[in-house]
Amino acid sequence: MQTKKYANKEEDLQEAAKDLRDGEVVAFPTETVYGLGADATNDEAVKKVFTAKGRPADNPLIMTVSDPKMLDDFVTVSPAARGLMANFWPGSLTIILPIIPDHVSMLVTGGLQTVAFRLPDNAVTRELISLVGKPLVGPSANTSGKPSPTTAQHVWHDMKGKIAGIVDDGPTQVGVESTVIDMSTDQPTILRTGAVTQEELEKVLGEKVLDATSTTSLAATQAPKAPGMKYRHYAPDKPVVMFDPLDLSDLVAKINHDEVVMGSDPILKSANLPKEQTWSLGPDVRSATEQLFAGLRYYDDQPNVTKIYVERMPEVGLGKAYNNRLGKASGNQLFQA
Ligand code: TXA
Ligand code: MG
Repeated sequence: MQTKKYANKEEDLQEAAKDLRDGEVVAFPTETVYGLGADATNDEAVKKVFTAKGRPADNPLIMTVSDPKMLDDFVTVSPAARGLMANFWPGSLTIILPIIPDHVSMLVTGGLQTVAFRLPDNAVTRELISLVGKPLVGPSANTSGKPSPTTAQHVWHDMKGKIAGIVDDGPTQVGVESTVIDMSTDQPTILRTGAVTQEELEKVLGEKVLDATSTTSLAATQAPKAPGMKYRHYAPDKPVVMFDPLDLSDLVAKINHDEVVMGSDPILKSANLPKEQTWSLGPDVRSATEQLFAGLRYYDDQPNVTKIYVERMPEVGLGKAYNNRLGKASGNQLFQA
């Protein structure tokens, strides 16, 4: 299949919308990462998304909408969930709600009686969804298990020849996937950390929000609630190792010439390594989150690089989402001085 590149202009968006209405798969930009879109009400189209990603069928998909009104055909929305939408949409929050029985394809939910919704902070994609007039499924547009794509070029790398086309709107802003909150249970529960934090959610909801991603709460006996989180994830083929900034001088003393360091500007400045051995994560945790997947993908494609060391960030705010993705990419391997 010839994969098209649609630009951010009216004729191209019309063409992408037509392809989606015809049951094709089109990748779209969001503020977090690029997504793989298909008409969520067309099972044949949804099947193509699983095939293109190589995604296990029991891992449910997000439905991406351009207007909160689109939810009413599929789910019952509680006042608390409405409050979240009013505060965080458009934005990096995915909300899980109970379906109206038989109103959502079991292919989308992976057989669950709940479904996840998201309204991204990207005008081009909202326009595209409005043109289609239906929710689009929207998993990250990477091959299953690989780091999510933060540019159209990353999507091209993984999906070329497998999907109808890619809508290019430049690099994404956040760099990691949305926060997922389950609002279908008695107590609101975070299933995946992201740019919207537990503190922000608690403030809006006016109640305690559980965090199922914190290591203590995921009892080994209990099946993980977000099916996607049980798979190996965000991982390049090359070994990735986290390092604590306090261990920098030991790392620099031990590092081989075919190993590389991804770190924030202050860290790279004191490391004083050759430029080709470093990837700048920028000044702070925000830029680091934006750059993380791009750096991992870049070095994964450099044949002469054998190991990727990446700086850990303080475990607060956005740092929790950053460390969570880095932990998965590295299989929680930490550099020991
Ligand atoms: O930022 C994002 O959310 C991106 C952009 C493209 O919108 N999308 C994304 O989708 O990350 P995906 O499919 O790669 O990740 C969705 C996660 C998976 O871990 C999945 O298992 C979980 O949400 N999920 C989806 N529906 C669920 C449900 N009904 N119950 C529990 N977990 C669910
Ligand atoms: Mg994903």
